[in-house]
Amino acid sequence: MAKILLVNGSPNEHGCTATALDEMSAVFEKNGIEAERLWLGRKAVPDCIACHKCQQGGGCVFGDHVNAVAERIDEIDGFVFGSPVYYGGVTGRLTSFMDRLFFSIPDDKFAGKPAASVVSCRRGGASAAFERLNNYYLMENMIVAGSQYWNQVHGNTPDEIRRDIEGLQTMRTLAQNMSWLLKNLEAGKASGVCPPEYEEKIFTNFIRNV
Ligand SMILES: Cc1cc2nc3c(=O)[nH]c(=O)nc-3n(C[C@H](O)[C@H](O)[C@H](O)COP(=O)(O)O)c2cc1C
Repeated sequence: MAKILLVNGSPNEHGCTATALDEMSAVFEKNGIEAERLWLGRKAVPDCIACHKCQQGGGCVFGDHVNAVAERIDEIDGFVFGSPVYYGGVTGRLTSFMDRLFFSIPDDKFAGKPAASVVSCRRGGASAAFERLNNYYLMENMIVAGSQYWNQVHGNTPDEIRRDIEGLQTMRTLAQNMSWLLKNLEAGKASGVCPPEYEEKIFTNFIRNV
């Protein structure tokens, strides 16, 4: 059974972001896909200190949820990262978690896996936060799933989110699209369709050698 990890980057475990993710989880489960939730909690999440120790192996020096997910990365077939909008951006806790997660895990562990972002806001800033989240997947050869609209819900309370019927439909459509994508990937693998072979990565810092 395929597994999707849904990360809630809100300090509210059962708040608006969680309500949007719940709507997706119900669709995943209906499609026979395991939907696992990870809530990042309310304690401060350390940000990346650019020590580069993770690149020597052994994971992030701060451990926490980052290494717990890293250890299980091969079991996870797809990801959804959800955040409330704070001043037009992603929460600090989710940014810190994702910076360390994506920096400490080899690129090939993410490549070819579907990913999606979900944002929740009262009124504005959803697009900027949404784009910020998508930046992670778009440089890891991941497959970014979309929906009928940008993946956002509007409200300050779970009850308000439940009344954002377009937002919730967008979540259900997104989960349908991700489910379909996962099933296609599984079917492709079973029939011998190989993932792309990539060239060795060029890393130039914009400096030309010739
Ligand atoms: C520090 C802070 C900043 C916020 N900034 C915005 C914002 O820029 N735009 C907006 O529409 N709502 C903003 N909000 C409201 C939340 O994004 C909104 O209530 C969200 O749905 C809460 O999700 P949650 O229950 O999952 O935490 C802010 C809330 C907080 C606490």
